[in-house]
Amino acid sequence: MSADETKDLVETVEVPPAAATSGGNGAPAGPDVFRQLLHQAVRVADMANAQAMRMALDFAKVYEREQGVRREFETQLSQMTLMEKQAGRYAEDLAEMLRTERERRHELERALEHERIANEELRRTGLQGISHLLLAATLKDRTTGEHLLRVRRYVEAITQRLGLPSGLVEEFGYSSVMHDVGKIHTPDHILQSEHHLSDEEFDVIKQHCIDGETMLGEARFFETARGIAREHHERWDGKGYPDGKKGEEISLAARIGSVADVFDALTSKRPYKEAWSAEAGIEAIEKGAGEKFDPDVVAAFVALSSEGVVERIRSEVAAGRPEPTESSAK
Ligand SMILES: [Fe+2]
Ligand SMILES: [Fe+2]
Repeated sequence: MSADETKDLVETVEVPPAAATSGGNGAPAGPDVFRQLLHQAVRVADMANAQAMRMALDFAKVYEREQGVRREFETQLSQMTLMEKQAGRYAEDLAEMLRTERERRHELERALEHERIANEELRRTGLQGISHLLLAATLKDRTTGEHLLRVRRYVEAITQRLGLPSGLVEEFGYSSVMHDVGKIHTPDHILQSEHHLSDEEFDVIKQHCIDGETMLGEARFFETARGIAREHHERWDGKGYPDGKKGEEISLAARIGSVADVFDALTSKRPYKEAWSAEAGIEAIEKGAGEKFDPDVVAAFVALSSEGVVERIRSEVAAGRPEPTESSAK
């Protein structure tokens, strides 16, 4: 309690007039006055105590409230610190993830580039291997490089006309030129015979399909070429050789290759025959639809012929023009 407050209390103590004097006659105060004064002094003290108590309680309340605010503030501060730390760790993790992801992407790009180079090299090696094989086969078979080039161009044009993707157009094309590589194993006297072959001799000829497939090994690059080598003398009606496969049992590349090969053989001059005209060749191919040949492949080839594509390929190969482009095969 402050001094002012105590003074206020003392001033509130009333001294009764009767108590100040004795009976109003000026005689000194008696024991009753003292008792009253004492009583009032006790009341003042009680009031002061009560006031002090109230102030102490008020102070305690304020203190408690302040402590509560402080604790709350500390809690919030520690939460914020924790969140700040978590955010920091999260940012570091994110940066690490981005770094790893970037490195992974670079690694993948490097791997893809290596694979692309390796594939390109493999393709070049494969194509070089093909040209050596073909040189040997054409020398022995007395067919010409032009025959193989025309077959390839016809195959590419038919494959494209059938709506197949450009990757297959290229694959069917380069694979078709190996259709007769197996003839390297066929004895010359049978291969170059100009008279009618006996059944035994014809059996030897048939072997070139099997030999061709074997010669082309097991590499994925020659998978289509192996199919064409093995199946290019099969017929749609199942009466071909060496396996008597029919219809779609024969690979599409071989069905296309068969039309291209037979058309070019008919329209080329050989030691034992003159060249047929393109019209006669097309007519023979049309007649073979559904028997020797896949009708859809024949229809595509006939369409190409009526659009002038077959004739253009013939004249371009004769003129020694370069490799076909997509537009020229249309
Ligand atoms: Fe053949
Ligand atoms: Fe051929």
